Amino acid sequence: MLQIDLISIFPDYLTPLKLSLLGKAQDKGIVSIDIHDLREQTNDVHHSVDDTPYGGGAGMVMTAAPWGDAIDAITNDQELVDLIILTPAGKKFDQQMAADFSKKYHLVFACGRYEGIDARVGEFYSSKSNFKVHEVSIGDYVLGGGEVAAMVIIEATTRLIPGVLGNPDSLTEESHSISGNNDSLLVEYPNYTKPSNWRGLEVPEVLLSGNHGEIAKWRKAQAERRTQQLNKE
Ligand code: ADE
Repeated sequence: MLQIDLISIFPDYLTPLKLSLLGKAQDKGIVSIDIHDLREQTNDVHHSVDDTPYGGGAGMVMTAAPWGDAIDAITNDQELVDLIILTPAGKKFDQQMAADFSKKYHLVFACGRYEGIDARVGEFYSSKSNFKVHEVSIGDYVLGGGEVAAMVIIEATTRLIPGVLGNPDSLTEESHSISGNNDSLLVEYPNYTKPSNWRGLEVPEVLLSGNHGEIAKWRKAQAERRTQQLNKE
């Protein structure tokens, strides 16, 4: 079973993780997801989690102590832990990273806000032999915090775990779609369903032909054309 823990100052932001396929996967015991409020690790009356940056500059930085206490509370030295720190300065998330994460035992997501988390948190856990620290970005834009990024990563990762998807055939089809030479995705061909004519638009005839060889050829050509088009833009 994959254990996933998330630490955030907005735990309610993460409630969609209980829904849909992921909710079912938790009921089936394939994954376990626990959400933790960072402020529970603070002792001061204001439950403060941030302070001004050393060296000056705009914004606030999240202090190391509550993060360290929160991570210690949900891990132990006997297990392998992959700590994922969400930051726009991280390595870009992709399908290959999702595949790697889907084979882990324990993922801990640190969802920072403001100008990020004191850099010593990543440094400290990197030096522990049972931890692997990943600084991850989901794209070249700045979000208000790591919560949505964590949910993106969890959705892409958990659907690759056997038993999570209703129809595992969709995974087999997709596995051919990570192209060999680089990590870019070969995008899917366009899909159609009934009716065959909608508002005057017809489904491509080859798909109605019943000729599986021709259909496969057409789909491959379409996927390649779409991928080329995307990579040009
Ligand atoms: N936090 C803020 N922006 C982010 C991004 N693009 N990816 C991951 N975490 C973030």
